[in-house]
Amino acid sequence: MKSKFRIILKWTLRVVGALVLLLLAAYGVIYYQSEQRLNQVYQVTPVKLAIPTDSASLALGEHILAIRGCQDCHGKDLAGKVFIDDPGLGQVVASNLTSGKGGIGKIFTPEDWVKAIRHGVGTDNKPLLVMPSNEFFPMSNADLANLIGYLKSLPPVDNELPVHNLKPLARVLYIAGPLSMLTSAQKIDHTQEVVDKIEPAVNAEYGKYLAVGCSGCHGQDFKGQEMPIPGMKASANITSTGDLGKWTEEQFMTVLKTGKRPDGRQIDNKDMPWEATKNFKDDEMKAIFRYLQTLPGSQNLQTSAE
Ligand code: HEC
Ligand code: HEC
Repeated sequence: MKSKFRIILKWTLRVVGALVLLLLAAYGVIYYQSEQRLNQVYQVTPVKLAIPTDSASLALGEHILAIRGCQDCHGKDLAGKVFIDDPGLGQVVASNLTSGKGGIGKIFTPEDWVKAIRHGVGTDNKPLLVMPSNEFFPMSNADLANLIGYLKSLPPVDNELPVHNLKPLARVLYIAGPLSMLTSAQKIDHTQEVVDKIEPAVNAEYGKYLAVGCSGCHGQDFKGQEMPIPGMKASANITSTGDLGKWTEEQFMTVLKTGKRPDGRQIDNKDMPWEATKNFKDDEMKAIFRYLQTLPGSQNLQTSAE
């Protein structure tokens, strides 16, 4: 009896040992792959911009900052904050963008700003974490210059932040796919031409330009999707095959301004950032509404397509 038990124990230990070794080896491979991707060097050529300092341009820059949701991650005063703090995934920190202590404002050259915002890479040419530059890449040169001008004018705020800390689960999800958005640099065709200037208009074309900022959450096809970050609510279908199809332009604008749906349900700003979208001008909201109505699957395709 005793020896039989020993044999079972011996084999159990062997199997468990082999499994542990296998898991360690698999994680070794994932760790190596994630380190490679996180340390990949991107040789981008940042466009040379004349950064404006006049108050009219800075006001335009402030508006872009407000509608692009930079403050959702970098904080109201843009002094940065710990953006992801999850026991499983670890910590990701959004930088202090001011010229205060711990901020980048004093050290960044115009090219550094362009590299970070448009290309999603840091001063070391390695990918920035979580910074959604794939959404900012198509921003016109004029808009980008105004935005940087405004950022350079921010009052300094001292805020020294901790460093990132990616836990094994984050690395596994990063390599396996669900968290591949962790670095946006690899999703951008860095050689693509960007327009110098785009004139605001109440039409679908300008709406498309603005709606790029919605696609990170609502998906490339705007039909909604599950969110990769734990605790985040799935986004809604905002083509007219979703509830939006039954809403008027006015009702759509009320959601962007207040988070209140026509049925009275209050949407939480933590899920859908209406504190940011409320900053759109009415004409910009109308342009986005028109664009959403031209999307495939839309029942209103016939009436709104040119
Ligand atoms: C979804 C969250 C998120 C949004 C939205 C976002 N950022 Fe970031 N951003 C980050 C994080 C996180 C980092 C730090 C990346 C790193 O250190 O790897 C970062 C880094 C940066 C950097 C580089 C700073 C450095 O330390 O190298 C700049 C510049 C920047 N963001 C500007 C902006 C601007 C301007 C906007 C709006 C147009 C914006 N960000 C929107 C999360 C975000
Ligand atoms: C940070 C992620 C995020 C961004 C960015 C975002 N949304 Fe949303 N949005 C959501 C989520 C999540 C919901 C669902 C919230 C709920 O139902 O409680 C939602 C809901 C909506 C709704 C209500 C739809 C319905 O059927 O209830 C509209 C309209 C909408 N978003 C439009 C937009 C537009 C337009 C933009 C860009 C200007 C945008 N959103 C940007 C996450 C986002």
